[in-house]
Amino acid sequence: MVRDLLHLNPIARTLPAPNDAGYLAFTLGRFTFFRDEYFAHIEWTANGTKLSHKMSADAFLQALMRDVAWEFFYGSVNFDDVFGTRNLYGKVELYAGRHHAAYKDQGLDYAESFDSDLAMQTCKAILHDWTNTGYDPFAAPMETGLAWIGKKVGHNTAAIGRTREACKRMPGLTGDTPLRSDRNRYPVNRAFLDVPQDEPEIHAEPGFEAEVHAFNLFAYLSRSDVTWNPSVTSVCGHSLFCPTTEEHIMPVKHANDRIEWFLQLSDQIEWKVEDRLTGLSRATVLMRPGDIAAMPADVRHQGFARKRAMLLVWENSDPSLPKLYDSGELPPSLAGEFAHAPD
Ligand code: PHB
Ligand code: FE
Repeated sequence: MVRDLLHLNPIARTLPAPNDAGYLAFTLGRFTFFRDEYFAHIEWTANGTKLSHKMSADAFLQALMRDVAWEFFYGSVNFDDVFGTRNLYGKVELYAGRHHAAYKDQGLDYAESFDSDLAMQTCKAILHDWTNTGYDPFAAPMETGLAWIGKKVGHNTAAIGRTREACKRMPGLTGDTPLRSDRNRYPVNRAFLDVPQDEPEIHAEPGFEAEVHAFNLFAYLSRSDVTWNPSVTSVCGHSLFCPTTEEHIMPVKHANDRIEWFLQLSDQIEWKVEDRLTGLSRATVLMRPGDIAAMPADVRHQGFARKRAMLLVWENSDPSLPKLYDSGELPPSLAGEFAHAPD
């Protein structure tokens, strides 16, 4: 179905025949994407020069999976130091070399904007064709094995169809996401077998039964079957609590277009923090249980977790924020914000 739509579109095309490894190639504007047994290849033309960049196919698919599930997310999703996407909310920019000095200094970087729906159709079509049976780009490496390697074998539609689970108020509250209260939906993950599964008692005053609720967030997270994919477990105005479980390497370097908070709930995550535009290293942050950090709006960051860890990402979804940071009206770091706060 997705392929049929792309066949009709002059900007986004599926090249008609699979290559000798069995995979289809795709174009979106002046970008071409193809894969072989081990690698994903991205080609573009800048200043009349044809350029080519390759990534390990699993790293590419893991990054693409997040970009699709997060609908291009807040700010930028860097697949690596060279290729990424920037959400322009309604449109999305794809770029290559834009935040990499060697490409940029020689004018070999390239960026092109697309209607978000069209770009999303293309991303989904690539993900569908390049994900083999048995490979789950959402899973930790130990849980998905080597099914990404080799010539094309089938699909894994169920795995790549998962989206972020997002409540409207809080899971389990009357009228909210019913799936959340299905505690047996997923088994407890191997890393969280020691997490108590009991639920809190709720004693609401008569008449407030639909307003008061609580659930065991640790138990909920212990059953997460995906990594590096925050869900939304409470919504209060623009304040979103997005807890997630992390293992191995965050498949993208995320450059948010606003400040976001991290609260380490269990285990450890090490964050590499780089300048969002130049990629130059700014900091390494090691977070242990109970640690809180506010990631500035002018960095990109990537997490590393040796053992599966629980993390709460606290996002401010106010749509006016990117402009306020871009224009300099808001300082990019919290330290700057405190410095300007009235007494
Ligand atoms: C983030 O927004 O920085 C983020 C996204 C996904 C994660 C963790 C953090 O799994
Ligand atoms: Fe982030």
